[in-house]
Amino acid sequence: MTLNLTSSDRHANPLAGEGDSLARSRRVPDDFVLGVATAAYQIEGARHEDGRADSIWDTFSHTPGAVVGGDTGDVACDHYHRYADDVALMKRLGVQSYRFSTSWSRICPDGRSVNAAGLDFYERLVDQLIGAGITPWLTLYHWDLPQVLEDRGGWPVRETADRFVDYALAVHDRLGDRVATWTTLNEPWCSAFVGYTSGEHAPGRQSPSDGLAAAHHLMLGHGKVVTALRDRDPSLRLGLTLNFTVADPVNPTDPRDVEAARRIDGQMNRIFLDPVFRGEYPADVLEDVRALGLDRHVKDGDLATIAAPIDVLGVNYYNGGAVSHVAPPTVLNATPATERPTLSPFPAADGVHWHPRGLPVTAMDWEVQPEGLTRLLVRLHDEYAGPAGTVLHVTENGAAFDDEPDDTGFVDDRDRVGYVRSHLASVLDAIDAGVPVQGYFYWSFLDNFEWAWGYAKRFGIVRVDYDTQVRTPKASALDYARISRTRQLPVGAVDTGDARLQASVAAGPSDEDDEDSSSGGSDA
Ligand code: FCB
Repeated sequence: MTLNLTSSDRHANPLAGEGDSLARSRRVPDDFVLGVATAAYQIEGARHEDGRADSIWDTFSHTPGAVVGGDTGDVACDHYHRYADDVALMKRLGVQSYRFSTSWSRICPDGRSVNAAGLDFYERLVDQLIGAGITPWLTLYHWDLPQVLEDRGGWPVRETADRFVDYALAVHDRLGDRVATWTTLNEPWCSAFVGYTSGEHAPGRQSPSDGLAAAHHLMLGHGKVVTALRDRDPSLRLGLTLNFTVADPVNPTDPRDVEAARRIDGQMNRIFLDPVFRGEYPADVLEDVRALGLDRHVKDGDLATIAAPIDVLGVNYYNGGAVSHVAPPTVLNATPATERPTLSPFPAADGVHWHPRGLPVTAMDWEVQPEGLTRLLVRLHDEYAGPAGTVLHVTENGAAFDDEPDDTGFVDDRDRVGYVRSHLASVLDAIDAGVPVQGYFYWSFLDNFEWAWGYAKRFGIVRVDYDTQVRTPKASALDYARISRTRQLPVGAVDTGDARLQASVAAGPSDEDDEDSSSGGSDA
C-alpha cells in the first residue's frame, strides 16, 4: 500500500524561513476537539451492496443533466470497502473525532424494516474508530432519504417524520452503547429548500410550498427523534446541525437593504433556530411566507416537540453575504453547477440580491470571510444556545480550491491551509469572548462527491485519485495534524516561507503507534 507523500515540496528545506519559529501562534485549548467530517452518500459507494436500496441521491444523480459530468455516488471514495484504511489515516493525522453519517437506505432499504447487514457496516466503522482512539460522532440524516419514502411523498408528507424515528431507533439499538453524540439532521435548510424549492439538489422539486412543508416535517422528525433517544438514554449527547449565513445589509442605513438582510436571516437561520430554542416560528417569517401554506402542516404540539432540549448545536459555516434590494454590477455564484434550471431556495425573498465584497473566493465562488464565524458563534450563544444551556460545535467548515497535484499526487494547498487557520482563529476569538465552542470538524476529510457538482469540486484535506482510490494527504492535512499534535495555531499569512507548514509537510503524518507504518493509504 502506498501513502503518497513524496514530492519536491515535501522535501523543501524544512528550516527555510526559520525566523518563523518566532512567529506568533495561539494556544488551542487541550479540551477543544479537532475532527474531520464526511457524509455517507458522498464517500461510501457500494450502491446496492448488502441490501442497500436507492436514496433520492441515487435517483437524482442518475438523472441526465442533474449532476456535473453525470457523476454519481455509485463508487465515490469506495469508503464502504476502505473504511479501515481511512480510519488508520485519520489516526496518523491526529484526528480526534470523526463526524460521519449513516445511510438510511442502507439500514431501512424499504423505508421501514431493518437490514442488519447495513448496520453491520456502521458497527465495523465505529469499532474501528474506537480502536483507533477516535471519537465517533454520528449524524442520522445527511440528505439521503430512501427513494421509497420520496415515492410516498417525501419530506413534505408528515409520515416521513415517523419513519425517521423508526430508523433512528434501529441505529440506536445497534450503536447506542458505543456512540455518545448523535446529530439528527444535517442542514435541514438544504434538504428542504435546495431539495424541494430550488431543485438544485435531490429530489429536485421546485416548489416554495413543498420546501416549507419539508422544513416543518424535517424539524418534527428531529424533535421526535430527540425525544425518543432521550427517553431511551438520558446520558446521550443529542443535537442538530444547521447551516448558517451571516446576512449583512450592503447599506446599513438603507431600510430596504436592512429588510433584505432580515428576510435572508429569517428564511435561513431563524426559521430553524426559533422553533428549536423558542418553540415558535418567527412572526416576521410567518408573514413573509403567509401565502405558502406552512400553517396547514403545523399541528398542535408540533412546536413543543421541535423544541425538545438539545445538548449541542452543530454550526456549519462557509461564508456570509452582503445583501441589498438592488442588483450588483457583477454577481457571485454566476455559474450554476449544471444547465438544469433552478429556482431561488428562499421561498419569499424575491428582489433580494447578493453583492460581492471583493473578498477572496473559493472554487465554489464562496467568499472567504472568517470574521463572520466569530460574529455568528457569539450571536448563536447570546440569543439562542446560551440561555438554553446548549454548547456549540463547528460541525463543518472548509473550502474547495482548484487543487493541482504534483506527479506524486501531493497537493501544496496553501490556500486551504490559510482558510483553516483563519477560521480556527475565528473560533478561538469566539471562545475568548466567552462562547462555549467545544470543537471543530473540517469539511472534509476526503475529496468526495460534492452533490450537484459531482467530483468537480474538492474540499478534502486528503486528495482522492478517483481512478486508483489512492489517498494522499495534502499540505493542509499535515498542517492540521501539526496543530492537533502541538495545540499551537500559527497566526498570520501563509506564505512560501512558512516554516511550520514546511516542517509539517516534511514530517508527514505521524507513524506513532502505527502497526503498519508503510500503510495508511489504500490499495489501488
Ligand atoms: C455542506 C454539506 C456538505 C458539503 C459542504 C461543502 O452544505 O453539508 O455535505 O457538501 O456543504
